[in-house]
Amino acid sequence: MLFISILFSFLLASTGFAHVPFLDDGSHDSITTAWEFPDPVETRLLMVSFDCPSTTSYSKVLINDTSSYLVVTLGIPNITSLYSYRPSLWAIGKNVSIPSTYETDSQSQTGIAQSSLFKPAVPRGLNAVEYPTEDTGAFVPFTEAATGMAGFGLLQANITLSGPGTVYFALQPIEHRRGRIFMALGYNETTESEPGSADKLQMQAWFSEEASPRIGQRCISWSA
Ligand SMILES: *[C@@H]1O[C@H](CO)[C@@H](O)[C@H](O)[C@H]1NC(C)=O
Ligand SMILES: *[C@@H]1O[C@H](CO)[C@@H](O)[C@H](O)[C@H]1NC(C)=O
Ligand SMILES: *[C@@H]1O[C@H](CO)[C@@H](O)[C@H](O)[C@H]1NC(C)=O
Ligand SMILES: *[C@@H]1O[C@H](CO)[C@@H](O)[C@H](O)[C@H]1NC(C)=O
Ligand SMILES: *[C@@H]1O[C@H](CO)[C@@H](O)[C@H](O)[C@H]1NC(C)=O
Repeated sequence: MLFISILFSFLLASTGFAHVPFLDDGSHDSITTAWEFPDPVETRLLMVSFDCPSTTSYSKVLINDTSSYLVVTLGIPNITSLYSYRPSLWAIGKNVSIPSTYETDSQSQTGIAQSSLFKPAVPRGLNAVEYPTEDTGAFVPFTEAATGMAGFGLLQANITLSGPGTVYFALQPIEHRRGRIFMALGYNETTESEPGSADKLQMQAWFSEEASPRIGQRCISWSA
């Protein structure tokens, strides 16, 4: 738990939340199909929706410069039925450092922060570190001034790398519910649209409570 900042010098609040939005289309359900952040520099937001059953969502980024740690932020839209929604973030990669406070499973080289039934599939030879949002206690409200979209930051993970390489991210639900969570990275603030980025209507829809089936609903046959 020590590696989870509950103070959030917070990317979202401090920058006014200017990010290029991307909508996950639900097809990135393995490391080999991970959605790629074009670079770790520009501020981008990946908006992920979980269905029934809730499968892991993967993304990745190539890191060349490891002089500083990689900061990843997770949050939920301001939707009442998601206030208790707490997926984990896993950072997976050959050069992902396992924090010394974590228990290490020496066989799988996995840094496990909590015992959970829900784990992403980690290929042999890669390190994996879990950053749970379950007990962070953080619930940092933000509103994007330009669009009025609002939500709560749950986690800021500072991911340390021992060398360059691809870092995979697994957004791992720990229960089967229709949920939404976003992850943000980058430090060079921008909102310029990019190939494949979401438009304002798509972003507003994702941040909105209006949806059918209802957001937050538990999956009936997977009530874990
Ligand atoms: C993570 O990095 C931020 C600066 O970006 C720092 O303020 C915060 O204390 C760090 N959190 C942890 C848990 O190391
Ligand atoms: C990182 O390094 C790779 C291989 O050298 C190169 O192709 C890529 O453009 C670099 N990316 C960045 C963001 O510098
Ligand atoms: C979240 O929405 C509720 C109403 O649904 C509102 O009262 C509250 O101010 C909103 N929070 C933020 C951070 O915008
Ligand atoms: C891990 O970092 C080392 C340098 O410390 C580098 O030689 C190696 O290629 C990196 N591994 C991967 C998978 O990129
Ligand atoms: C960061 O943004 C500034 C201004 O928008 C731009 O000049 C600079 O090239 C960007 N840096 C990187 C590393 O992309």
